[in-house]
Amino acid sequence: MKIFIDTANLDKIKEVNSWGILDGVTTNPSLVAKENTDFRTLVGEICKLVDGPISAEVMSTKAADMVAEARELAKINRNVVIKVPMTEEGLKATKTLANEDIPVNMTLIFSAAQALLAAKAGARYVSPFVGRLDDIGQDGMKLISEIMNILDNYDFDTEVIVASVRDPIHVVEAAQLGAHIATIPYDVLKKMFNHPLTDNGIKKFQDDWAKVPKKP
Ligand code: G3P
Repeated sequence: MKIFIDTANLDKIKEVNSWGILDGVTTNPSLVAKENTDFRTLVGEICKLVDGPISAEVMSTKAADMVAEARELAKINRNVVIKVPMTEEGLKATKTLANEDIPVNMTLIFSAAQALLAAKAGARYVSPFVGRLDDIGQDGMKLISEIMNILDNYDFDTEVIVASVRDPIHVVEAAQLGAHIATIPYDVLKKMFNHPLTDNGIKKFQDDWAKVPKKP
């Protein structure tokens, strides 16, 4: 499973990248707004830090404008992936961009039907938002299972980015379903390697080691 970080914060990206497990980065307009800096410059800086797919979202609502925006974003770096929202116009834009070999991450996916259409339009990635479905009392992980089945049935090249991840359990369940990628917020990534028994175990080993006689 590939692991992406879901943030636009350079310090967090740097830190997680230093762990040696990071395959890519996803941003969205809300995450970018937190950084209070020029969007294109920020995307360029992220691309310098991580040699993998970096998602940047278009803000236009008409297909022609989305395509124009996407072409400009794609010029920033060969690793830029264009996030396009799941709308009728977004599908048209995705088809055009796919024909130009500009990779699209179709975002705001909340149903298997939406994911199927995105894959048909040539989206390189689909981003189902599991946490936001859970938030309204639906089963986000069931959606991942449905989408994985559909993509497998027809051998689509589209990869699933499990998004809106709220906790490590989401990541583990997504991995069990064979989801290609999870894009994970910094706080959840930190929780993934923490375990109280590991901490206790290290302390016990340190304490016991201190009792081992050492040659002067
Ligand atoms: O970036 C898309 C998605 O991961 C957003 O997550 O936490 O805002 O629902 P969240």
